[in-house]
Amino acid sequence: MNIVNAKDFDSMNRKAASIIFTQVTLKPDSVLGLATGSTPLGIYQNLIELYRKGDLDFSSVRTVNLDEYYGLDKSSDQSYVYFMWENLFKFINIKPENVHIPNGANTDADAECRRYNQVIAELGGIDLQLLGIGHNGHIGFNEPSDHFEGGTHCVTLTASTIEANKRFFGDESQVPRKAITMGIKSIMSARRILLVASGVEKAEILCEALTGPITPKVPASILQLHGSVTVVADEEALSRMNA
Ligand code: GLP
Repeated sequence: MNIVNAKDFDSMNRKAASIIFTQVTLKPDSVLGLATGSTPLGIYQNLIELYRKGDLDFSSVRTVNLDEYYGLDKSSDQSYVYFMWENLFKFINIKPENVHIPNGANTDADAECRRYNQVIAELGGIDLQLLGIGHNGHIGFNEPSDHFEGGTHCVTLTASTIEANKRFFGDESQVPRKAITMGIKSIMSARRILLVASGVEKAEILCEALTGPITPKVPASILQLHGSVTVVADEEALSRMNA
């Protein structure tokens, strides 16, 4: 595992964006696994900037997003499909048909999970998967559990995730209770993984995930078993590691 120290959030964004830049430059039709949340926002801004300068071309890039709330309409400004278009896709030259996100509005959740597994398989797997980390160690929406879940599945969100994500909603009661997420096997099958973390509130869980026991109670701990993980984190997020 390669751990890259970044001074602060801006530096983390630039370093992480440069890894994605290199991936797409070397393989223009890369399959990028993308993430939502606050942490990747600055990375997406850097990628948009690189595109505007003419340094990055997304015309052949394919993307698969990690997860989506279940039961939200696609047009909802809280949905992850909305987040991705508003924060990245609408500013770059990606082809809409090359964008893949679980459909949280499909009333048949099992069918949607099967469809999404098929999408990832037909793309030939993920070249580079970008990940944030939840306060409880979740990746995507793989919540702490007594087992690692393999492929795409529907999850019931934990109270701590609902609490953490309520900032994007009017209040806690508005946060969907379920989500569709790529499973641990889908994530671990990515050829490369880029985990990003920022801020002191991630210090404890980042340290536990990267150096603690590998357990489904801390889903991100499984990343210790992946052969090609780069962690880009700022000083605050790494403060427990360096303590
Ligand atoms: C959500 C997403 C995760 C993300 C996590 C952390 O729960 N499903 O993919 O990693 O939030 O978000 P943030 O970066 O805002 O802390």
